[in-house]
Amino acid sequence: MEPSKEYLFNHKGFYFVTQGATPENIDALETFEIRDSDIFIATFPKSGTVWMQNILNLILHEGHRNGTEDVENMDRIPWLEYNFRNMDYAALPSPRVFATHLPYYLTPRDLRNKRVIYVTRNPKDVVVSYYHFTKIMSSLEEVSDFSLFLERFLAGKVMGSSWMDHVTGWYSHAQDFNILFLTYEEMKKDLRSAVLKICNFLGKQLSEEEVESVVRQAMFENMRKDPRANYEKMPGHREEDGKCLFLRKGTVGDWKNLMTVAQSERVDEVLKKKMESLPIKFIWDIR
Ligand code: A3P
Repeated sequence: MEPSKEYLFNHKGFYFVTQGATPENIDALETFEIRDSDIFIATFPKSGTVWMQNILNLILHEGHRNGTEDVENMDRIPWLEYNFRNMDYAALPSPRVFATHLPYYLTPRDLRNKRVIYVTRNPKDVVVSYYHFTKIMSSLEEVSDFSLFLERFLAGKVMGSSWMDHVTGWYSHAQDFNILFLTYEEMKKDLRSAVLKICNFLGKQLSEEEVESVVRQAMFENMRKDPRANYEKMPGHREEDGKCLFLRKGTVGDWKNLMTVAQSERVDEVLKKKMESLPIKFIWDIR
């Protein structure tokens, strides 16, 4: 079943949501001016994007860390291809941070050799998180049946297109960027180590106390309560009171609560061939 044109459009082989993006503004990104100090968070949807946004905001901004400023993450770290709040990106102070779901080949030309943090997650948890997300976001087509959504996901007919192409594309073009790869699972297992890796990558020195403060505020339950971080003011909820829509369960392995054994095997079968070409192995089940 093809995705409805009311919700998605395909541009250069990639599916975007119609709310917030046009082929023209995607094309214009090719010449988007990049600064040396820019940082990009790149993800396939539902892989931990808003989590990484919050972590970077906490690491980079003392006022965010100690609560003296009230800037929402989506204003501090906007989406490159979906400029929901009509911001003038050229006027943002350095270091700018952008989030993007773009595949490597649609990113700005000058992003080559610049800093990118790519977060990936077990695709089974991604598809389950995504399925729940379609129920609460009015910009996404609601698919009532999980098996139907799973087939769409495996066929790459969702916003973000094919999970496999996204991940294998970024991993196999790693040498084109200055890139730090992290997995959702390793962040769950040891958030402090992940924060230290990010600080090291960004050349940002934080004291022991500051690191602890970042870790504490980036933990699921704390982030969920933080209106700067939990996206409760983002427009587009189906329900009027659709709070905390990006922070649902925040666990590893939730797919086991929804997928049947046959569905799980189907995912394994489709992914196996494609992922074999990658030089790395993912350890999805670390807890
Ligand atoms: P679940 O739906 O499985 O709960 P994205 O930001 O890319 O849309 O990803 C959303 C997923 O990241 C959601 O997964 C959400 O709960 C999870 N997430 C967000 N912040 C988190 C945190 N601090 N700790 C763990 N998971 C988090």
